[in-house]
Parts: sequence; structure tokens; C-alpha cells
Amino acid sequence: ADKQSVAALLANQHLVITAGPTREAIDPVRYLSNHSSGKMGFALATAAQQLGATVTLIAGPCQLPTPVGVTRIDVTSAEDMLAAVLTAVPSADIFIGCAAVADYRPATVASHKMKKTAEQDELALTLIKNPDILATVSNLTKPPFTIGFAAETNDVARYAQSKLVRKKLAMIAANDVSSSAIGFNSDVNAMTLYWHDQQGQLKHLDLPVADKLSIATQLLQHAVKLKNSHDF
Ligand code: CTP
Ligand code: CA
Repeated sequence: ADKQSVAALLANQHLVITAGPTREAIDPVRYLSNHSSGKMGFALATAAQQLGATVTLIAGPCQLPTPVGVTRIDVTSAEDMLAAVLTAVPSADIFIGCAAVADYRPATVASHKMKKTAEQDELALTLIKNPDILATVSNLTKPPFTIGFAAETNDVARYAQSKLVRKKLAMIAANDVSSSAIGFNSDVNAMTLYWHDQQGQLKHLDLPVADKLSIATQLLQHAVKLKNSHDF
């Protein structure tokens, strides 16, 4: 397609994208988190803006520059991220959950720095489950076209397909994070997109290793095609 039609691909579309890790406080100086760099979510925001979309990027703690023309909302915990998403999503046409949301958080947050004790060599933290942001969005009365990610180290296809169904997604991007060459902190990625066609048949598309901006653009181009064909 020529540059004009590519640029118009996401015109009049509002995309809400989550990115990066979340941080779950243990006490005022400590937290639980993960190794997400935020690069894939920021690449999606960059690509979407370049394709003409209005983009709201809801980012957990990550040291990345805000993509030009993108509205960025910084959050810390999963609960903060959910609140920001629920504020932004009523006007969204497409929601992409790319954040590595912490599945659990400490059940209580100590108000003072926890002290080690002379008596105890073991410390147990009680964790409780965080809300599932992606599933909350896809279960709204009028959900946007909802896209999830599945970061897996094994049985990638099977786990991704079950998340596609369980979270009622329009599409899922399955990411093999067992290799350190792709995913997480890398500048390149590879993934397989899964979705159901109008007959309910499972379909997939492999996106081979490429830089994250190229992967992001391909993902968005495919999402638009699917969204239009399904008449979402
Ligand atoms: N996700 C979310 N909120 C959570 C957990 C996950 O929105 N509390 C989203 C992620 O942003 C991603 C998708 O759900 O788009 C799948 O995340 P993943 O961690 O792969 O799956 P989980 O459902 O958390 O299951 P598990 O970690 O056990 O594989
Ligand atoms: Ca998880």
C-alpha cells in the first residue's frame, strides 16, 4: 500500500495500550516486580501513532522516552493500572494489554520499613491475586477490540490459545520468553498471533524475528484487518 493509505490505517481510532511491569509495594522501600522493559508496549504505541491513531499509553515503571504524539499515563501497581485503564477505555476502539502485570501483590503493605529480626531466619510473605486488567476490559458491556499477550516459557501455543478463549479476546500475541534473544529486554521480538475467524475456527499468523517497531506495525495491520472483517 502507498504511504497515504498506510498512514490512514488507524485514523479515527483511539488505542489504549498498557506497557511495562507493575510494582507491588511490600513496605515503603521495597516491592515485587518483574523484568519487563516496556519496549514492546512502547513500540506498539509508536506504531499506532504513526498509523494515525490517537494513543493512550498506560505505563508501569520503565525508563523509556514517551513516543511522539502519544498521551502517557504513568502508574505503579496493578490496581493503579486498572484504575487508569477503566478511565481511558470507554472511548477506546482497541485495547492492547501488553503490560507484564504482577499476578499477585503483598496482602498487606507495611507502613514502616520492615526490620529483620535476630530470631527468625525465614520470612513468609502472604500474597493476594491482582485484578486481571485484560479480562476486566473484555468483560465490559461494550468492550473495545481487545488484544492480549501471552508470555510463556513452554507450551506457548496451548497456553496462548486457552488465554484467547478464557479472557474472551479478539486476538492474542503469543510470545516465547524462554529465549533471552527475544522478548523482555530485547530490541527484537517474534510472536504468533491467534484469533478465531467468523466460523469460529482457530487461525494463526507467525511474525518472524524483527525489531519491535516492525513487529508492532505488523500486529496492528493484522488487527485492523480482523476488526474490519468481524465488524466489531
Ligand atoms: N494481564 C492483565 N492483568 C493481570 C494479568 C495479566 O491484564 N493481572 C494481561 C497481560 O497484560 C497479558 C495477558 O493478560 O496481555 C496475559 O498475561 P500472562 O501473564 O501471560 O497470563 P496470566 O493470565 O497472568 O496467566 P499466567 O501468568 O499464569 O500464565
Ligand atoms: Ca501473569
